[in-house]
Amino acid sequence: MMYFDNGATTYPKPQAVINAVMTAMRGYGANPGRSGHRMSLRAAETVYRCRENLARLFAVDNPENVIFTYNCTTALNTVIKGVLKSGDHAVISSLEHNAVVRPLEAMKEQGVTYSVAEVTEGDDEATIRAFRSQFRKNTKLVICTHASNVFGVRLPVERLAALCRLNGILFCLDAAQTAGVVPISLEDSCIDYLCTAGHKGLYGPMGTGVLVMRSDVKPDSLTQGGTGSFSSELRQPELLPDKYESGTPNLPGIAGLNAGVEFVLSRTPERLDAYEMRLGQRLYDRLSGINAVRLYTARPEADTHVPVISFNIGNMDSEQVAAMLDRHQIAVRAGLHCAPLAHQSYGTQEQGTVRAVMSAFNNEKQIDTLANLVNNFVKLNEKKVAIGDSNVLE
Ligand code: ALA
Repeated sequence: MMYFDNGATTYPKPQAVINAVMTAMRGYGANPGRSGHRMSLRAAETVYRCRENLARLFAVDNPENVIFTYNCTTALNTVIKGVLKSGDHAVISSLEHNAVVRPLEAMKEQGVTYSVAEVTEGDDEATIRAFRSQFRKNTKLVICTHASNVFGVRLPVERLAALCRLNGILFCLDAAQTAGVVPISLEDSCIDYLCTAGHKGLYGPMGTGVLVMRSDVKPDSLTQGGTGSFSSELRQPELLPDKYESGTPNLPGIAGLNAGVEFVLSRTPERLDAYEMRLGQRLYDRLSGINAVRLYTARPEADTHVPVISFNIGNMDSEQVAAMLDRHQIAVRAGLHCAPLAHQSYGTQEQGTVRAVMSAFNNEKQIDTLANLVNNFVKLNEKKVAIGDSNVLE
């Protein structure tokens, strides 16, 4: 299988990640931070090492500001539901994922409101103006994706975070599609909360996510329970990371994530991005040479995009195109990618798009195979592609 569904989760994982998961399960699969025996201590050490590596990757001083969650969605829910109270207002971008939109919709019942700032691809000034125009007296939080999971368009998040700081507004970054490929420094920016998945550009297993907290404003915790610390106290500890990490953590997942972060640190996000961007550009260039193919963004460039390529073939249903590619051993994701706002912005809410996302494990040959397949398919079905007849997809 040629796998391009790396926006959903990266595959394959580095061998070191698989080994780390197996070693944790086979060699020291005890509950970290709960007991004093050597297996539990080794498990706790692994968890701490992963915190340290993530702190290094995102340039935060204190590894205890790194909180493990189960995915990016849980991290985002922690910030959104833990910060916003009745009467508060939030601003989001027009490219947000349902992981941001749905918690905010749910919070309307509790008197929280939100507005959407339109992103203008290629014009950061316009995007920043759009955010500023949505600020109100009661705006407490801006939640903003670093790059669209559908179109790969990057947002000027450092500038937006600085603008928020000037206006006394907290800034939460959704780095699900950028962590591991775009350098992010919390030390050098005004980002208050960083949420990301562990299983995408950080190459960890699914079931891992990260919330890095830099603000003095600590969201309420979504769950309370055993933390292995302060056990005589009936109230949830305020200490980080314990406040947000109740219950047994995903030790094998975190051990794998640690190996994934080490993989990223050894290659560096800059080099990974440069490699993947070259592949993304190659695919974009090949597809843009095929008449029936629709592309929705400008040619991806390192400063403005991440290598996420969305396309369609004429009016064909995107799911049908993905099914055809699957029959030829190519894995992509089609449809709305849990991001209906982004599709509304680009006018693709009916058709969806076919999305190919690069990882460190893709190569030029795979790109050419995908592009050739699309080209051959278009040639064979030229007339039918134009009228969107999905029965021709063989
Ligand atoms: N949010 C993930 C994606 O974009 C699952 O596919």
